[in-house]
Amino acid sequence: MSWNGVIDAYRPYLPIGPHAPIVTLNEGNTPLIFSPKLSEMVGVEASVYIKNEGLNPTGSFKDRGMTMAISKAVESGAKAVICASTGNTSASAAAYAARAGLACFVLLPKGKIARGKLAQALMCGAQVIALRGNFDDALRLVREIGQEYPVAIVNSTNPDRLEGQKTASFEVIDSLGESPDFHFLPIGNAGNITAYWKGYREWKEAGRCKRLPRMMGFQAAGAAPIYLDQIVKTPDTIATAIRIGNPASWRQAAMAVSQSNGCIDIVTDEEILAAQKWLAMNEGIFVEPASAASVAGLFKCMGKEACAKCPLATELRSSLLSKTVTIVCTVTGHGMKDPDVVALHQLKSSITWPTKDRIVKLMGF
Ligand code: F0G
Repeated sequence: MSWNGVIDAYRPYLPIGPHAPIVTLNEGNTPLIFSPKLSEMVGVEASVYIKNEGLNPTGSFKDRGMTMAISKAVESGAKAVICASTGNTSASAAAYAARAGLACFVLLPKGKIARGKLAQALMCGAQVIALRGNFDDALRLVREIGQEYPVAIVNSTNPDRLEGQKTASFEVIDSLGESPDFHFLPIGNAGNITAYWKGYREWKEAGRCKRLPRMMGFQAAGAAPIYLDQIVKTPDTIATAIRIGNPASWRQAAMAVSQSNGCIDIVTDEEILAAQKWLAMNEGIFVEPASAASVAGLFKCMGKEACAKCPLATELRSSLLSKTVTIVCTVTGHGMKDPDVVALHQLKSSITWPTKDRIVKLMGF
């Protein structure tokens, strides 16, 4: 059966009428990949899966929400859209706006956007405005401009975005036949964890599963306002996608975590890079740094560094995990978006003359 995007797949569960024009790039239906190595590392009857959202049309989970936001913008007669972004939202907005024939304006923190994402936004015809400020400044200005001028805001402050993004939970449950016990996610502007929790609850209400997962959210240590319970004025992390000091869905994310008996914790840039490398080297899944925060979080919960309140660590320590446990880690964006970060891993090609002798010597034969 052909896949025609998340609105086509889940229309009765989305706030969109039967005659609304649909703008889609056939997003969603991303693979839920079993990781035997991570499962073994958890060390019990565990099944760990990676939900690879980097395989969406523009290489991130944003496309699920953008198909909704842009379709609704077209339905309402909008001619232009605007967003603030750390990169992926701008790439997605630009692509869907191009397809819909809408003008697209994106406000980005200058010098803090991964090269691939900037290329995507420019190539799809967005007007890119680089601010001498951070994401939080950009979002504040987008909200002001959206109120005064005829442009539709397509950040996750737009509820249609979260409606689209909740479909990732539907897919996880449809694949597993039940919710996982734990769901690990990176947190930036906090929209995605909010959307996943909404999706899980709705699919339970619809009778598609019997239980709900614990939501485990991870912020970068240098950009951890929810964890610290205070605005971070100058957020900083190698994971530029989640370099955010005042998340728009702060309250909803905190609620998702407390309602699900989950946890919000931090991972350092070193832990993020180590998880990024581990995933690529061991599973062949190349993700951008922010995405690796979920897997870094899982490693942290398994290790000695786990925070005192960590529900997975508690279960591991007290051997409650003699039962089977299912864990899903969402990886949110593709590694090719941020090629510059690869230099930090000090991986290099070998260079030689084109002779067989030299090549086989390099190969170690
Ligand atoms: N991972 C990636 C790759 C992201 O691009 C983002 C957010 C997140 C995780 C965090 O998700 O904001 O819903 O908590 N990127 C936004 C952007 C802010 O502008 O592209 P969140």
